Formats: sequence, C-alpha cells, structure tokens
Amino acid sequence: KGRIFSGVQPTHTLHLGNYLGAVRNWVRMQKEYECIFCVVDMHAITVFQDPAELTKNTREVTAAFMASGIDVSHSIIFAQSQNRVHAQLAWILNCVARVGWLNRMTQFKEKAGKDRENASVGLYTYPVLMAADILGYQATHVPVGEDQKQHLELARDIAQKFNTDFGSDLLVPPNPVIGGPAARVMSLRDGAKKMSKSDPSDYSRINMTDDADTIALKLRKAKTDPEALPGPEVLDEKGQVKAEEDAKRPEAYNLLAIYAALSDKELAQVITETAGKEFSAFKRDLTDLAVSVLGPIGGEMKRLLDHPAEVDAVLKAGAEKARAISEPILKKIENAVGFLSA
Ligand code: TYM
Repeated sequence: KGRIFSGVQPTHTLHLGNYLGAVRNWVRMQKEYECIFCVVDMHAITVFQDPAELTKNTREVTAAFMASGIDVSHSIIFAQSQNRVHAQLAWILNCVARVGWLNRMTQFKEKAGKDRENASVGLYTYPVLMAADILGYQATHVPVGEDQKQHLELARDIAQKFNTDFGSDLLVPPNPVIGGPAARVMSLRDGAKKMSKSDPSDYSRINMTDDADTIALKLRKAKTDPEALPGPEVLDEKGQVKAEEDAKRPEAYNLLAIYAALSDKELAQVITETAGKEFSAFKRDLTDLAVSVLGPIGGEMKRLLDHPAEVDAVLKAGAEKARAISEPILKKIENAVGFLSA
C-alpha cells in the first residue's frame, strides 16, 4: 500500500478539467491508498490574490473535494498554510534544486508571460514548494493532470540529488499517476488551449458549480466544426485517435473525451457508438450527462458552503493529521542536513 499526495490551488472555482483530470481519480484511489489532499493556498499567492477571495476559495475547494466523494473519515484534507512543514522543507529544497532546472519549467514561462522581470520570486520557485508538499510526506504516488508532469519530474530530481548529497534515503521519488481520456481537458473555445481557471472567458470552461442551464448554454456555444461525428476509422490499432486526425478536429475530440470520462468509457468505445451523429444531438447528450454528474456535486457544495464551520473543522482536523505525519519526516531531513534540533 502506498501514500498519495495531491493538491489544487484555491484561485478560482474548480472546473471540469480539475474534476476529471484529478479529483475524480482521487475518489477512486482512496480505497487503495492512504490519501492526503491539500488546498495549496501558498501556491495560490505566487500570483496576487485578494485575501477575502483566497479564504472563500479555500473553503470552496475543500467543499468540492468533500462533495465529490473524498471521505474525510479515511482521507486527509487540509490547507497547505496550516502545516508549517511545507515552507520549512521548501527552503531546504530550494538549496538543493538548481537554477538551470527551474529555468526549464514551461509553466513558469507561460504564467510569467513576457514581463518575466516582474513575476514574483515565489512563482519561480513554485515547483520547489510543490516538491516539498510531496516529499514531506514521503508520498509514493501523485495523481494529477498532464500539465503537472514536468513538476513531478523535478520533484524526483530534487529527491535524488538530496539523497546523493546527504547520503540518505529520506526523500522518496514520487510516481506520477496520469491517464485516462481526461488527463488533458481542453478549452471549450479553443482546442489548442487547456481548460484553465485563468482563462478570461467563462465560456471556455464548465465550472463544478455551474447549474444545468449554464452547462447547456456553454456546451451549445462550444466550438465545433460542421462535420458529423467521426467513426472508428480515426482510431489506430491501440484504440487511440490518430495524431493527424486529432490535429484536424481538436475541439470535436475534446468533447468526445469529456463524454468518455464522464460516462466512464474508453474513448474508442464512445467514438464507435456515436459515429455519424450530428453535433447538435451529441451536445444535448453530453449536457444531460454532465448535469447528471455535476448537479449533485454542486448541490452538496452549496450545502457545505452554507455551513463554513463544518468545512473549517474538516481542515483543522486534517491539518493536525498532516502535521503528525510530516513533522517527524522533516526532523530527520533537518538532521541529515546537519541542523541542530530546536
Ligand atoms: P491546479 O490547481 O492548476 O490543478 C489541479 C489539478 O487539476 C489538474 N488539471 C487538469 N487536468 C486535466 N485537464 C485540465 N485542463 C486540467 N487543468 C488542471 C491539474 O493537473 C492538477 O492535478 N501545481 C498544482 C497543485 C499542486 C500539487 C502539489 C499537485 C501543488 N502541490 C503536489 C500535486 C502534488 C496545480 O497548480 O494544480
């Protein structure tokens, strides 16, 4: 049995990409693994956040975890800033990671944009804090969407260098768990961009709190092309969509992948079943499916958010358990570095 750590930034309401790429997979894995799920508020402030909004979003992400089916009698949910170990270990790891490694991080380049001189230092060292999140619990598996792959490779590199430098085996290189049809959900408006919390257009994403009418409207407006749905001829022998086909109709394959993930089917099966269908009819089916999955979750989130004390109590109890696991690990790491104990 292994230990899972994963996290979500409380920067915006969660969207379908976060749900299908991450949270839903966590719900399934919690039976097999010891799980720690973190609302990463310290990562969120690498880009300025209004304080009241940050508090609200931290509760909202917690409520989304719970409403999606994370069982807090079994799994741990807490906010990153509620456990000082993350910040303390991040400092040590900042001294292990190399500037050249961070310079290769594509997410920093995307987020910092053209005005790189003006990005926060925290945004630059963001992946080191993420490594601390994982390594501070000796987590063995990290279920995430595809966009986090490079950060996880960095966490492995940091763990290996620390172990070599200090002759230790305290840092456990984590295994990424990435897969399924929704490891990379794309924007509803542009099949070349991933669905993202930071996209200025709300029509680019489906939020977990969207009501049935909003979901229907967003899917009706979702970009597609005039052709009917493709058939099995677009699949290769492994049942994957051939790359040249995907490049021709990225928006169409994105909606098909969302359908597959929501209905728990393989993409190849969905393509075979919907071959030749008109997009308008398919979009109606997809709307019904999305509403049937997200509706109950959104409803339970609203109930929880009407009871913030309940949500805060979950975080507080989770933080206590998180500290109990990570503090002894940090002590050993500090000892390996040569720090005297306090
Ligand atoms: P964040 O908050 O951007 O996203 C949370 C999770 O959702 C996944 N995801 C997606 N999956 C599929 N399609 C998409 N369009 C999509 N957009 C987001 C992300 O891959 C992620 O799994 N750095 C992380 C948070 C983090 C973390 C960690 C994760 C901090 N520390 C330690 C794992 C372990 C992030 O910004 O995720």
